[in-house]
Formats: sequence, structure tokens, C-alpha cells
Amino acid sequence: MAIVLAPMEGIVDEVMRDVLTGIGGIDLCVSEFIRVTDTLLPLKTFQRHAPELFQSGHTRFGVPLRVQLLGSEPQALAHNALRLVEYGAKVVDLNFGCPAPTVNRHGGGAALLKQPDLMHEIVSTVRAALPETVLLTAKMRLGFEDTSLTLACAEALVSGGVGELTVHARTKVEGYRPPAHWEWLARIREHVSVPVVANGEVWTLDDYLAIREVSGCDTVMIGRGLLAAPDLARRIAHYHATGEKCPPASWAQAMVWVLDFYAQCRARGEGTPYPVSRIKQWLPQMKRSYPEAEALFAAIRKLTQAADIQTVLDAEIRR
Ligand SMILES: Cc1cc2nc3c(=O)[nH]c(=O)nc-3n(C[C@H](O)[C@H](O)[C@H](O)COP(=O)(O)O)c2cc1C
Repeated sequence: MAIVLAPMEGIVDEVMRDVLTGIGGIDLCVSEFIRVTDTLLPLKTFQRHAPELFQSGHTRFGVPLRVQLLGSEPQALAHNALRLVEYGAKVVDLNFGCPAPTVNRHGGGAALLKQPDLMHEIVSTVRAALPETVLLTAKMRLGFEDTSLTLACAEALVSGGVGELTVHARTKVEGYRPPAHWEWLARIREHVSVPVVANGEVWTLDDYLAIREVSGCDTVMIGRGLLAAPDLARRIAHYHATGEKCPPASWAQAMVWVLDFYAQCRARGEGTPYPVSRIKQWLPQMKRSYPEAEALFAAIRKLTQAADIQTVLDAEIRR
């Protein structure tokens, strides 16, 4: 069994990966998507999205990072995938699920789920460009508007050469609205010959146990649930090791993580909007597990200076 931290563009960057993998229980991270159009991307783009690749390939806490590419142009994806391998990547992940209108307008992300033939062409072109030792993986949704092509898409990816498939168990039009259709994960898993990673709507240990049960998948990817409850993966790992369900971390403990996150954001982007925007993104995500996060967010919402937000956060941890 393994827990994967989901890629989340604009949210799960290097700093968030550092904080969450430091808490524990996460076995693997996937980078935010790197968008490929028709060119070979410059080194700095890879460095910005996946700085860990240029250190050891792991976060500071030893958790490996996979890099994800998104695009619809087979040759351009193949060239950039090969470039990633030259930089040290042992796995390349391809995105077939992004619902963003700008991405879909250019035929990338979830728009590809309407064209299993093109999905197959992309995967087989990228596969052919990579050394055999490199694992090619993919992440898909169930479909664009409906599930009529779900199995055809999964089959296209696997016959094209994908060695592992992560499935976010919703269509593009369903966005992020519950429920996720975990029963589809079982259907896909039974249909393809490669491991399937289950994803969608896991917020608690009980959700984790339920998605495993319904899908039959060993590996589960978690996104928003880990932002809301940063110790969720650690509690899952603890449950596997001991059979005990331990209580979630207190708000006081969560605040230690928030302060660590904010300090790292300031170190990385002091004087830019980065630390302010990042903390304003994370706190609302925590409301689901910590009602205190709502009041804290209200207290910083109108602040624009990093130091003023720091004062509020420091007061909160002393409360
Ligand atoms: C803000 C946001 C950004 C995302 N960015 C990516 C991305 O870059 N690549 C990707 O494959 N999925 C992306 N996703 C989808 C997540 O990886 C995941 O599939 C989805 O959130 C469902 O899992 P969850 O219910 O555990 O959050 C994103 C989701 C959100 C909410």
C-alpha cells in the first residue's frame, strides 16, 4: 500500500510538498503539471516546477517526486519527457484530466478524454522516446462529459505503454463535486493489466479504507484531504502499522505546520505576492478539519503585507 500526494497546480508546490512530506505518511509526490505546447521547455521551467529533481529527486524528507507533463502534441511531449530523463527523472507522468478551460481549449488535459486514439498516440510516442528503464505513468479522469469512453481511454493509455494509471474518479464536467465514483476504479482495475491508483474525495481515514475496499486498489492518491488534514497520511500509515485509529492533530499542532509553511514561503518569495497568496490559499482549505482556520483566515483576509500576516499568525500560536 502507498499514499501519493496529488499534484495540485498553484497549490502543491515545492514548499507545500516539503511541509506535508515532513509530517509523514506520504510515499510519493507528483509535481504540478508542466504545460508543453510545441517547444522544448527551458531548464528554468523544470527547475521552477520540480526543484527536487535537481537535488536528489526527493523532498528534504526523502519522498520521491514524479514530474507531470501536460499537452496534446506527441512529439513535443516526447522531447520534453526525454529532457526530464536527462535531468534525472526515472518516471514521467502525463496528465489527461485537467479541466481548466485554457488547457482544454488547446486540446490538452481532460479534452483528450474525447479522443482515445490521440491518447494512445501520445503515450506510444513518448514511450518510444524514453529508455526502457524509465516508467511512464498517466493520470486520467473518467471522461469528459460521461463515462462512455472510460474503459477505451484506460485501454488506450495502457496499450500505448503506460505502466501505472492514476484515476480521478469523476468526469471533467463533474469538476470537484462529490461524489467520486469509486466503483469505476474497480472496473478500470479489472480491465487493465497495470496497477491503478485510486483518487478522489478521500478526506478521512474511513474514506481511505472505503476507497480501498470499493476499488480494490492498493495505492491511493490524496489531494484536498491532505491540505485540510495535513497529518491524514501519517494517521493512515499509523493505522497500517498498528491497527489503531489515532485522533487528528490539534489546532495548536496544525499551527506549527502553518508557521513552518509561511516561513518557507517568505524565505522563497519575500517582497513578492507569493507568501501572502499562498497562506490565503491554504487556510480556507483547512476549514474542513479545523473551524479555527476560518476565523484565522478572516483575520488575515484583507492584509496585504507579509509582516502583518506574520503578526496575526504569531498571536494565534500563542493563544
Ligand atoms: C487546485 C487544483 C489543482 C490541481 N492541479 C492538478 C495538476 O496539476 N495535475 C493533476 O493531475 N491533477 C491536478 N488536480 C487534481 C488533483 O490531483 C486530484 O485529482 C483531485 O483534486 C481529486 O483528488 P482529491 O479529492 O483527493 O482532492 C488539481 C486539483 C485542484 C483542486
